[in-house]
Amino acid sequence: MSAATGKKAVLELDGKKIELPIYSGTLGPDVIDVKDVLASGHFTFDPGFMATASCESKITFIDGDKGVLLHRGYPIAQLATQASYLETCYLLLSGELPTAEQKTDFENKVRNHTMVHDQVSRFFNGFRRDAHPMAVMCGVVGALSAFYHNGFDVENVDHREITAVRLVAKIPTLAAWTYKYTIGQPFVYPRNDLSYAENFLYMMFATPADRDYKVNPILAKAMDRIFTLHADHEQNASTSTVRLAGSTGANPYACIAAGIAALWGPAHGGANEAVLKMLDEIGSVENVAPFMEKVKTKEVKLMGFGHRVYKNFDPRAKVMKETCDEVLSALGINDPQLALAMELERIALSDPYFIERKLYPNVDFYSGIILKAIGIPTEMFTVIFALARTVGWISHWLEMHSGAYKIGRPRQLYTGETQRDIKR
Ligand code: SDX
Repeated sequence: MSAATGKKAVLELDGKKIELPIYSGTLGPDVIDVKDVLASGHFTFDPGFMATASCESKITFIDGDKGVLLHRGYPIAQLATQASYLETCYLLLSGELPTAEQKTDFENKVRNHTMVHDQVSRFFNGFRRDAHPMAVMCGVVGALSAFYHNGFDVENVDHREITAVRLVAKIPTLAAWTYKYTIGQPFVYPRNDLSYAENFLYMMFATPADRDYKVNPILAKAMDRIFTLHADHEQNASTSTVRLAGSTGANPYACIAAGIAALWGPAHGGANEAVLKMLDEIGSVENVAPFMEKVKTKEVKLMGFGHRVYKNFDPRAKVMKETCDEVLSALGINDPQLALAMELERIALSDPYFIERKLYPNVDFYSGIILKAIGIPTEMFTVIFALARTVGWISHWLEMHSGAYKIGRPRQLYTGETQRDIKR
């Protein structure tokens, strides 16, 4: 529980003083509890939640000024280079890194839930083959709620915990099947002899005609690290969506589908796809300068740059860039888009327009270049993000349901018509 500091903020309104309690966390800014403002007949006003802490959480801490990202206290660079994605999932879900025995047990649990009910495979047929993969994911993940609703009791901790395992286990299967559906290839079923990332890449790229398809271990390692770098990120737009949907007691699979919908936007998880499209549009280093002029006149945004919280380097972008260099050199790929991205970054980081606005590369700036090297098509980039973030979303859903919570119900500043009568 947050520490009540005994300190108070005093709000003076219409000659009256309202004392507002101040709480401290273990890291980060203190918070002012503003619920007593209501008694004064006022609402607080914070569109976009620029200065609003929506909840108390122990899962992830971000220091935007210092470029710090901790999952249950562990720095993201250590988790991305020293732990597997499933170990990070265990950490996010339980609060601690697993022992060797717990790791094996969790891996087996996940392995035993990678299949989906065969009826789910029929949902894909309702989509056109050229549907955007994120539209398909919203549909099929939401459809899981139909298979796990009767008998589900959100107040039952065992029901909540098996839901988390099912979602972590099944999301790669649905993501790979989404890709297969859009390219007209048959679904490839998960295998129990492969690691999490290997299994995903196997389901993505194996075909019935190529029974001996082998996943390149370099790509599997890069994929696993990319999953870890996207696993959770505090109260971002999609996680806040999952928490808000979950606060009504809604089915968790439907809540995760709501998170997928929120992530799809180009201002959020859709940015990785938008970065590659932007690099394609710019085409070559010679076109960077005129493009930057369009950014400054606000005709376009520099996708993959800027962040609501990070006003310094996004620590995930640093690891992503290192991984990019490793993977491309290991594969002997000389991708001109990497050179273009690095030139864009160099120019942006030395340009007053970006410096003044503290705009740095975020997690999405380099991820697309690695995903392309792994063979993932651009339209699937945000699906990869959704796959990896599912564990973050469900961790926050579990945390909310593990204690007292209220339904989220913000108010507004109404500036519409005052009451009037119909005149016929
Ligand atoms: C993710 O919240 C999370 O944690 C998200 C995420 C996660 O892991 O969940 O980290 C994942 O969503 C990363 C962000 C991916 N999005 C993009 O790369 C899209 C491009 N970035 C922007 O759209 C923007 O930076 C946001 C949406 C990320 C943040 O927007 P804010 O906090 O609302 O900032 P803002 O729009 O108020 O910008 C402040 C100024 C403005 O200029 P002025 O009005 O002061 O003149 O900076 C400018 C903006 O125009 N600006 C940019 C810019 N981002 C902000 N200008 C050019 N290019 C950009 N990318």
